[in-house]
Amino acid sequence: MEKKPLIVGNWKMELSLKASAQLARSLREMVEEESISGDVVVCPSFVALPAVKEELRGQKKIALGAQHVHWEERGAWTGEVSAVQLQELVEWCIVGHSEHRSLTSQRDEQVRQAANTLIAHGITPIICIGESQQERQEDKTVEKITNQMSILLAHTDRSTLARYVIAYEPIWAIGTGLAPDPDDVAEVVLLIRKLVAKAVGKEDAQRLRILYGGSVNENNADSFVAAHIADGALVGGASIHPKEFITIAKKCS
Ligand code: PGA
Repeated sequence: MEKKPLIVGNWKMELSLKASAQLARSLREMVEEESISGDVVVCPSFVALPAVKEELRGQKKIALGAQHVHWEERGAWTGEVSAVQLQELVEWCIVGHSEHRSLTSQRDEQVRQAANTLIAHGITPIICIGESQQERQEDKTVEKITNQMSILLAHTDRSTLARYVIAYEPIWAIGTGLAPDPDDVAEVVLLIRKLVAKAVGKEDAQRLRILYGGSVNENNADSFVAAHIADGALVGGASIHPKEFITIAKKCS
């Protein structure tokens, strides 16, 4: 079965509410004229979700996602947002992004719990994993990815796993302009698929969408996605420039 590429724009905390709505409007107008065969998702800040949802209403080419979710469904968690609250707004949600992990003590077990809570509420999790610069220098990439994947796979059944999207984001490549060599990404993607195959079988592993993220731009996107190394891209900085994001989506399709 041919997998549709998935292109996700992570707008981070870059835009005002007005600018978020404007960006959604521009993207909407631009995709109408383009033939993009992949799934396109944009992830604004929580506060911009209702306005962006409104801008995207009535079209099917761009879906809406959130940037983070708490692992619990409700409770005394000041400043946090739950899957229960997001379910009426989004179809997708990034989980365990390294920028968020670096600010909190969120562990891989909690990332898994958040992903599974999202699934229970009909939202597809985009789960971020990846090694730090230090782990890379110490040649610990394989160890890190294997550990993160084994925690994700430990209590996850086949049907849940079928709803996962994994985003391999080397932390040192995020926002630095230092995208890795595509061959290195290919090795990690293969490792992730092997670990999934071992847990649930080859077929399910083949079906899993694995994205690449970290300094993706209009010049390098096709070397990761069109070259079939990854099944899509998680795009940060370049995703707030509508022309560039649409070019990336086209190149990946
Ligand atoms: P970047 O961010 O494209 O700006 O490197 C990617 C991400 O944070 O997901």
